[in-house]
Amino acid sequence: MPVAGIDIGSITTEVVIMEKKEVLGYVIIPTGSNSKNAAEKALEKASQKAGCQVDELDFVIATGYGRISAPAAHKKVTEITCHGKGAFSLLPEARTVIDIGGQDSKVIRLSEEGNVVDFVMNEKCAAGTGRFLEVMAYALEVELKDMAELSKKAARSIPISSMCTVFAESEVVSLIASDKAREDIIRGIHDSIAERTVGLVNRVGLEEKVIMTGGVAQNQGVVECLENKLNVKIEIPENPQIVGALGAAILAEKEINN
Ligand SMILES: Nc1ncnc2c1ncn2[C@@H]1O[C@H](COP(=O)(O)OP(=O)(O)OP(=O)(O)O)[C@@H](O)[C@H]1O
Ligand SMILES: [Mg+2]
Repeated sequence: MPVAGIDIGSITTEVVIMEKKEVLGYVIIPTGSNSKNAAEKALEKASQKAGCQVDELDFVIATGYGRISAPAAHKKVTEITCHGKGAFSLLPEARTVIDIGGQDSKVIRLSEEGNVVDFVMNEKCAAGTGRFLEVMAYALEVELKDMAELSKKAARSIPISSMCTVFAESEVVSLIASDKAREDIIRGIHDSIAERTVGLVNRVGLEEKVIMTGGVAQNQGVVECLENKLNVKIEIPENPQIVGALGAAILAEKEINN
């Protein structure tokens, strides 16, 4: 019987449907203003893709900040556990997991068995998260998905000194007004996110291999800045946004096997 993992994040909701360790289908949809609706819609769509009905799902585990409002979930599990499980299933050599989502970022240390042995989380402030990138992309009038490509053309990185998203946005607006190259500003924005992430990594200690999950892993510009600062290669899964939901689905399979 199929099971599902559902990750209700601040920006996106993902569902992974699994049976006998195989992914049958998955979806990524915007969470929007109603996380309960998003969860229902994502479950429905992913089930369709997997060729089953929502009521056929044997066990559903919800994670993410919106997990409290997940309707069909039999169990709720923290994001730390789910991202750890998901990342380890994709890369058993992974010892450090960096997840940067829309509203928080976290670094998880895994044991050889794939268990969480330590973690740190930044959830108090948007700086260093995907939301920060979204605000800056808007101010610069560029698409989020184009930021990495633009930053490659940078001649230098303009440091962003403000520690707060709101002030950093004003700083970027001033830089635009003073005719600084957009590419250089974007590189500075990526460096600023990487800098904050390094701070988190240092608190749990860097251990290879390093894997990155969450939507920001799709921004190769941030990934490169982070690789340079940490001096390691960072592995990016094919679909970094679904890793939390994948971990939840793996745990759901464990539940029915027990
Ligand atoms: N194609 C893309 N290119 C670059 N960045 C992207 C892309 N798609 C998403 N992102 C980034 O990913 C972020 C969302 O990440 P994700 O979907 O992991 O967040 P979330 O899980 O909803 O948030 P959280 O876990 O903090 O509640 C966006 O804010 C954006 O910065
Ligand atoms: Mg998330």
